[in-house]
Amino acid sequence: MTHAIQIHQAGGPEVLQWEQVEVGAPGVGQVRLKQTAVGLNYIDVYHRTGLYPLPLPFVPGMEAAGIVESVGGGVSYLKPGDRVAYASAIGAYAEARLIAADRVVKLPEFIDDRTAAAMMLQGMTARYLIRDIYKVGPGDTILIHAAAGGVGLIVCQWAAALGATVIGTVSSDEKAALARANGCHHPIIYTREDFQARLLEITGGEKLAVVYDSVGKDTFMKSLDCLRPRGLMVLFGSSSGPVPPLDLTLLSQKGSLLVTRPTLATFVATKTLLEENSADLFDAVGSGKVKIHVNQSYRLKDTAQAHRDLEARKTTGSTVLTV
Ligand SMILES: NC(=O)c1ccc[n+]([C@@H]2O[C@H](COP(=O)([O-])OP(=O)(O)OC[C@H]3O[C@@H](n4cnc5c(N)ncnc54)[C@H](OP(=O)(O)O)[C@@H]3O)[C@@H](O)[C@H]2O)c1
Repeated sequence: MTHAIQIHQAGGPEVLQWEQVEVGAPGVGQVRLKQTAVGLNYIDVYHRTGLYPLPLPFVPGMEAAGIVESVGGGVSYLKPGDRVAYASAIGAYAEARLIAADRVVKLPEFIDDRTAAAMMLQGMTARYLIRDIYKVGPGDTILIHAAAGGVGLIVCQWAAALGATVIGTVSSDEKAALARANGCHHPIIYTREDFQARLLEITGGEKLAVVYDSVGKDTFMKSLDCLRPRGLMVLFGSSSGPVPPLDLTLLSQKGSLLVTRPTLATFVATKTLLEENSADLFDAVGSGKVKIHVNQSYRLKDTAQAHRDLEARKTTGSTVLTV
């Protein structure tokens, strides 16, 4: 019998229940996966709490790696035994699952399952942030919040490799040291220092063309003040809570600013986009430009503890749930 974590009502980590589930055979266009490692992401917390509501009951989790066990009708690109991974497909907190074949990519030999489960969602997010939404390059200075987190550590390394100067916020000295060792030229401890004032000291008073803000409520307004006229605010998460409704006139007053609120789903919406994005990520990891730091690991059935630690800001880099 297969096990999965199920949620029957939104709430705290205690609503994550380890239960027996029926998986069944794959339908047309689907594959059945035996999963080996599952990725933990902040979006899993938004799903659990109901910030992003889903129909109940549901199996949370968006990302995992594993082996194709069987394929349904019309699936020619995958066969039993293929080693694969995916991101952005709800239902990942499970020992086995069915999934649409076009949501899955084959893994290159040099990426093990644990690394794959840790990197697909956060890595493809980092990729669209710095290659699609804004093309980071030499001469750019960027601000990335939560620089020692999962997405943060990947953005720091990749943006530095592209020649940018990286300023990143973190909540502790240990996280500052980790971010610095991974491409963040100027960590700012935003729980102690005013990050906007410190950023202007670092840049000699220059504001930035782009800011990446995943913290949300606690940082958003000050992040806007780090942008130069016509600068781009990329609000891509709400770890501290959602940003309250905004009077758009503020954007003109602050210098014709641009704001986008992207989601990975848009950037991997088709099989072609998913393959382009993941291939770029595999190259970045394979070439050594980006190292995936799996700094925490929990048994899948202990996912509630993983959620507690993530929300308490105890984690750094990526976290994997082992099956
Ligand atoms: N839109 C998208 O496509 C997309 C895709 C992936 C992730 N995201 C977003 O990107 C962010 C990072 O995701 P992740 O999975 O890599 O998580 P993470 O960065 O590893 O963990 C979240 C971090 O946010 C910081 N934080 C600041 N205030 C917080 C608070 N009040 N409570 C909890 N954490 C707080 C903490 O770092 P410090 O202790 O250093 O402050 C914490 O470690 C999340 O907001 C997530 O929703 C968005």
